[in-house]
Amino acid sequence: MGKLDGKIAIVTGATSGMGRATAILFAREGAKVMVCGRNKERAEEVVNQIKGEGLQADYVLVDAAKPEDGKLIVDKTLEVFGEPDILVNNAGMLSMSTLMDVSLEEWEKVFNVNVTSALKLTQLCAPYMKKKGKGVIVNVASVASFAAHHGFAAYISSKHGFAGLSKSMAWELGPEIRVNAIAPGLVHTAMVDSIGGLGVLQGMIDNCPVKRAGQPEDIANVALFLASDDSSFIDGQVIKVDGGFEC
Ligand SMILES: NC(=O)c1ccc[n+]([C@@H]2O[C@H](COP(=O)([O-])OP(=O)(O)OC[C@H]3O[C@@H](n4cnc5c(N)ncnc54)[C@H](OP(=O)(O)O)[C@@H]3O)[C@@H](O)[C@H]2O)c1
Repeated sequence: MGKLDGKIAIVTGATSGMGRATAILFAREGAKVMVCGRNKERAEEVVNQIKGEGLQADYVLVDAAKPEDGKLIVDKTLEVFGEPDILVNNAGMLSMSTLMDVSLEEWEKVFNVNVTSALKLTQLCAPYMKKKGKGVIVNVASVASFAAHHGFAAYISSKHGFAGLSKSMAWELGPEIRVNAIAPGLVHTAMVDSIGGLGVLQGMIDNCPVKRAGQPEDIANVALFLASDDSSFIDGQVIKVDGGFEC
């Protein structure tokens, strides 16, 4: 028996990295999973992997830079599986511009992808969860929700905002819906490879007592815990999953 048997789960940013690992794990634990992202080839790869194990998944292509398109995700989920029980707001984009260089266009895009699309999708999913009397939302924030560095101004601001939004969601959507956020530290994904890979981030590994980067499955395991009844008394938390990283 799986921890998510019979549940319908939406996972954004599920075509790669942590979202992909989460979608596969949720399916293995009995959920029907709607895989969301922009890249058709990778979406099909994830869905084919899940279906190849005799499990259930489908995909929808949506650009999170357009938060109103969250409706496409909910419509496809209702059509294929039914009303959602679990929402994982994981899609995110990096921005390395400094405070003085970031354009308002880039700032707005980062907030749309990292914060506003999650707000919109939550507004669309919550009524179904309320009606069922039960639902779970897991947001993927960051250790950048807690601290700042030189550069990354829009990313850091968006992840601080996402942590706050996660707490607001818990207060406004309870008691039927529990909402928690995961704050990953350095996790080896395409996002990290896009800025030069683990080699250029060795300092972050040195600042962890575990002395390694995380793997997508490290985050998926915590997402499963937060999405299942195993965490039924945990609500409104932003939980660091970072190998003990000291900023
Ligand atoms: N890796 C880290 O060290 C780290 C640390 C802290 C927090 N995080 C956060 O973890 C989350 C997952 O990132 P990851 O590391 O797993 O990165 P990843 O492997 O690059 O995956 C990012 C996912 O987000 C989706 N995405 C990005 N922009 C999108 C857009 N405009 N519309 C729709 N989907 C979009 C991508 O889908 P498509 O490519 O198909 O569009 C992909 O599925 C993000 O929120 C990130 O900020 C990562």
